[in-house]
Order: sequence, then C-alpha cells, then structure tokens
Amino acid sequence: MRLDKLLSQATVFTRSQAKIHIKKGKVKVDGDVVKNPAQHISDNANVEYMGVSISKPKLRYIMLNKPAGVVCANKDKDHPTVFDSLFVPNVESLHVAGRLDIDTTGLVLLTDDGQWLHQITSPKHNHRKVYQVDLDTDITEKQIRILSEGVQLKAEKERSKPAQIEVINKTKIRIAISEGKYHQVKRMMAAVGNHVIKLHREKVANIMLDDTLAEGQWRDLDALEIKL
Ligand code: URA
Repeated sequence: MRLDKLLSQATVFTRSQAKIHIKKGKVKVDGDVVKNPAQHISDNANVEYMGVSISKPKLRYIMLNKPAGVVCANKDKDHPTVFDSLFVPNVESLHVAGRLDIDTTGLVLLTDDGQWLHQITSPKHNHRKVYQVDLDTDITEKQIRILSEGVQLKAEKERSKPAQIEVINKTKIRIAISEGKYHQVKRMMAAVGNHVIKLHREKVANIMLDDTLAEGQWRDLDALEIKL
C-alpha cells in the first residue's frame, strides 16, 4: 500500500493531509524518514508518525439508530453520547460522519476510516440524506414549491439546493437534501414558515437505516454499504 494511503487509513488525516505530513518528514518507515507519499510500504514494515507506531488497522464502519437525547459528540457533561452505546475496542478512534441534533433520531454513521469519512461528508460529493419530518402545521403547496426550488436560509449567501419532498400526510413529509449545513432541515422548514417537531434520518447516500435496529442499537456496515 502507498504510504499516504496507509497514513490516512490509520489516522483521521485525509489523503492530502497525509501527503503534507509525509513531505514534512514526520513519518518514518523502519526507522528512516520517508518523504515520498507514493512509496510502497510492505505489510510488515514499521511505520511511525511523530514517533508513534501505526499499523494498518482493520477499519470500522458502523450504523447506529440514534435515540433522542443522545449527542453526536465525543464527550458531553450533561448527556449520553453516541459513543457510550458502542462497546467496541478503540472506540475513541471512531468519528461521526454527519452529526444529528440532540433531538433528532435515526441513522448515524461512525468510522475510523479518514478517507471514507471525508468522502461521505464532503459537500463536493453531494450525498443525499433523507429525513422524515413531523411538522407543526399542515404543509402547503407553496411551501413544497419553495423547498423544491431552493430556499433562502438566514445568514447564508446562497439558496439551499433543491430538495425532494414526498408528502406522507398533511403534517408529515419525507425530505431528501444533498447539503448538511447546521440545523439544515429545521432552518429550511422555518424559512418557509413551518416548524419541525420531530426529525428522523432514514438514509445517507445508499445506506438505509436497518429497520431491525431498535433505538440505541448498532451494526457494522456490509461491503455494499461501505462502497457508497
Ligand atoms: N437537519 C437538522 O435541522 N437537524 C439534524 O439533526 C439534521 C438535519
């Protein structure tokens, strides 16, 4: 495997960040500084980043059905975190791929693969996220039209990208968006004059929340889901 790939897989660095660290001479292979990110590294080589030995880990990809009241943070003094329910080794090496608000339920992805994390969260890749939304008041034709065309959010320069709306009933919709700004769905609904009372994420890219997972339960992703 190339050195930059190994470094990004063994850490949270993206491939380009890994290249920079390697070029700066922070990485040693079998005791020698290697500054060529493309150098091929054999399976039994000892690779060190700033003196700490790293090895090609078995990467983890997890889906969790997040309950309300749980935060997507590493630590929180007042609330349980998504990491508290995961009894896996090296839980501290996992990162949330796309946070949900404390009161939002549903699909949360966690991984220790820096490249995959970047792939799934980067706005460049535009992965679709699908939410079920319970609304305060009946959805109107006008609100659907504005959301579908792209709505102007407060404090944003550009309108949000067009959303796809499916009406489940007057106060419950399914919305698919390709952006992941802070409080995006709640702000979109507020911008058209409605209000979210319940939000549940069902899908990210091709990964659908497994309906056999009760709230708080998790499972590893399968090979097809990891492929994106
Ligand atoms: N949009 C929101 O407003 N909140 C979430 O948790 C996710 C998307």
